[in-house]
Amino acid sequence: MNPNLKQLHQYPFEKLAQLKQGIEPPGSKPHIALSIGEPKHATPHFIQEALLSHLHGLVNYPTTRGLPQLRQTISDWVSNRFLKPSGSIDAETEILPVSGTREALFSFAQCIVNPAEKPVVIMPNPFYQIYEGAALLAGAEPYYLNTLEENDYLPDFDEVPEHIWRRCQLIYICSPGNPSGSVMERSEHEKLINLAEKYDFAIASDECYSELYDDEKAPPQGLLQTAYEMGNTTFKRCVIFQSLSKRSNAPGLRSGFVAGDAEYLQNYFLYRTYHGCSMPLPTQHASIQAWNDEKHVRENRQFYREKFTAVIDILSDVCKINRPPASFYIWLKTPINDTEFARRLFEQENITVLPGSFLSRESNGTNPGRTHVRMALVAPLDECIEAANRIKIFFNSL
Ligand SMILES: Cc1ncc(COP(=O)(O)O)c(C=O)c1O
Repeated sequence: MNPNLKQLHQYPFEKLAQLKQGIEPPGSKPHIALSIGEPKHATPHFIQEALLSHLHGLVNYPTTRGLPQLRQTISDWVSNRFLKPSGSIDAETEILPVSGTREALFSFAQCIVNPAEKPVVIMPNPFYQIYEGAALLAGAEPYYLNTLEENDYLPDFDEVPEHIWRRCQLIYICSPGNPSGSVMERSEHEKLINLAEKYDFAIASDECYSELYDDEKAPPQGLLQTAYEMGNTTFKRCVIFQSLSKRSNAPGLRSGFVAGDAEYLQNYFLYRTYHGCSMPLPTQHASIQAWNDEKHVRENRQFYREKFTAVIDILSDVCKINRPPASFYIWLKTPINDTEFARRLFEQENITVLPGSFLSRESNGTNPGRTHVRMALVAPLDECIEAANRIKIFFNSL
């Protein structure tokens, strides 16, 4: 067996199942799950249609690079979204389709990390759990960079010691962030790109929530956008991970892409040839339709906006609650320990939230998830309102 397997942590949802074990929630209140970050709005009909009408494509093995038409569609989307007014990204060398960002975030580390050089992979803390598993299985040491309330839940790169930067081969950033919804400013991207040049490491920017933003006039800054605006028009050391799962409510489609530095992508292409996660042709055709349409994404954002407004309106009477600039999460500060909060909320109100410490590790003498829970506003509006009313009762009972 690969000895690194022993270092993997139990997945948060297994810990959650254990936390809830043996508890009898009140049967009179139907269960509401705010714990899982799975979009629940309907997958647009035209995406389903495109998938169905290309089922004949199942007769072919898809290629690792994907259809030129798909890469061109993605290239146009990236240019329109991030490289205005006139920037472009090369569909041949700077884009690869992936089967959802989860497998891509994992496999990218396996491709980039050289285990012979005592590598460090830096990640935010709390974090999407794949970053850590990817680092450990690539033979690297994870370095957890706390994202704390005093920094708007964003990483502070000045906190990383010089000896860690020297060993860093890869950093994951997540903006908009899971679990906080915080968005990195251009100046922070710039700082990181300069550090990447100085210490020669790769930046993997997980942007899978970038299209779920609150202010229609202020879409989150993307890493390739910053690189391009700095004059780094070949996106050196920068790679973004984008997904249709949240943007288009299609988590089951398993469709996303990786884009950026052509040198990395050339090696990553070679890696993926053996890795074997090429995207089925019907999925590629459905993805082309999805990336070509923004109307359904605007509607999607509006659904989340309504939920945030309603839930925050109810809960702001009993706790301090921030409206995040993006994502579908509320990263709620708890007056008691996070696991205790989650356990008692389930016991009293039959609501499941995710304790923050299940997403974070002890670092620098603190576990930044310990005083928070994550609530995903994925349920329908009326269920989110019902949940907020019950959480209000719960707060008042504390
Ligand atoms: C921060 C983050 N990155 C990546 C993913 C993976 O998304 P997918 O594999 O569906 O693209 C998720 C899913 O929950 C996520 O929260």
